Amino acid sequence: MNTVPAQHARVLSGMRPTGRLHLGHYHGVLKNWIELQHEYDCYFFVADWHALTTHYEDPTIIPQSVWDMVIDWLAAGVNHGEARLFIQSQVPEHAEFHLLLSMITPLGWLERVPSYKDQQEKLKEKDLATYGFLGYPLLQAADILIYKAGMVPVGEDQVAHVELTREVARRFNHIYGREPNFEELAKTAMKKMGKKNAKLYKRYRKAYQEQGDQEGLEAARALLESQQNITVNDRERLFGYLEGSGRIILPEPQPMLTKASKMPGLDGQKMSKSYGNTIALHDHPEVVEKELRTMPTDTNRVRRKDPGDPAKCPVWQFHEVYSGEDVKAWVQQGCTTAGIGCLECKQPVIDAVLNELKPIQERAVEFEQQPELVRNIIAEGTEEARDMAQETMDEVRSAMSLNLR
Ligand code: TRP
Ligand code: SF4
Repeated sequence: MNTVPAQHARVLSGMRPTGRLHLGHYHGVLKNWIELQHEYDCYFFVADWHALTTHYEDPTIIPQSVWDMVIDWLAAGVNHGEARLFIQSQVPEHAEFHLLLSMITPLGWLERVPSYKDQQEKLKEKDLATYGFLGYPLLQAADILIYKAGMVPVGEDQVAHVELTREVARRFNHIYGREPNFEELAKTAMKKMGKKNAKLYKRYRKAYQEQGDQEGLEAARALLESQQNITVNDRERLFGYLEGSGRIILPEPQPMLTKASKMPGLDGQKMSKSYGNTIALHDHPEVVEKELRTMPTDTNRVRRKDPGDPAKCPVWQFHEVYSGEDVKAWVQQGCTTAGIGCLECKQPVIDAVLNELKPIQERAVEFEQQPELVRNIIAEGTEEARDMAQETMDEVRSAMSLNLR
């Protein structure tokens, strides 16, 4: 299924600033962002308002976390030359949009989002029976829709939020995209493309509407995207006319599921701050080395001469992430025959982790020494994000009859 016109091959994702990033974030999220930034028009932002929904009682840690997080991103290789990096609260249009979307969002939609109840259960010590927390996924919808993002790289736990975003977009288009004389406007818009293109568009539309021809749909979209002479509104009308609705003001985004990170923690469970088993990107090499040296191994290997089983050992999971076939064969053989000791077995992992962290930490130091540079990077990204957000808000306000002037 592809309901996102290629025009919207824009990628958007955000992260809540709730502490330093670790190798789990790096392997699970950041490496993915770094790849995407080469291919798409990427917007990555720090969701500080989202952090406030759960940390409203102790917000003082948020600002530091914001800058730490930006530095961790940059150090990991997220590149401000390729992607726009910004901070949610510096683009207040998100808040206005959230408010406007709240007008059309049925309460039940928000109450049914699984994370609403789950998180309340999980974070029992916090009172999350707040208006802001209920609206969390709607604020996220505003984040996404304000950039008309087509793709949203997220983990499994966020898919329901993107789903809600799609529903909200559909409802918005349904309510505000239906102009009384829509059909007429669409036909006039069609003419503006010129005879030849109008004819092509009609043919593709017919093929799609009458035979469900997906290629017809794609071809018509490509055609619309290549039109230089039609206005934004006309383009939206023609996108909408193609699928038989009204104007598509807010395109529906797709979740782009991030492969579950295979990054194990020091105890073999998934690496996560809540398990206390992380290696932070900024951990000192000596600390990292010590932590890896002391991490548990197969409990059957009490003495050096006891054979073990890599399948029962967290170190093996690190080898799965970091080692090539030859080293892995050496581990399998050496462990099961007690040919190697555990410390020996850990050495290639220690080397690999330290090697991976080295350039990241070097870059982090550079950015830490230049706070002005980091602020400028964010200021630049924010400016571009705001331009885009303001453009959408102009359209949204006018669709909602709010263009009083
Ligand atoms: N809710 C996301 C998380 O906890 C963060 C987030 C906020 C986000 N707004 C977003 C992610 C928009 C993707 C798109 O991870
Ligand atoms: Fe784990 Fe390696 Fe020790 Fe086997 S030899 S138990 S795989 S650390």
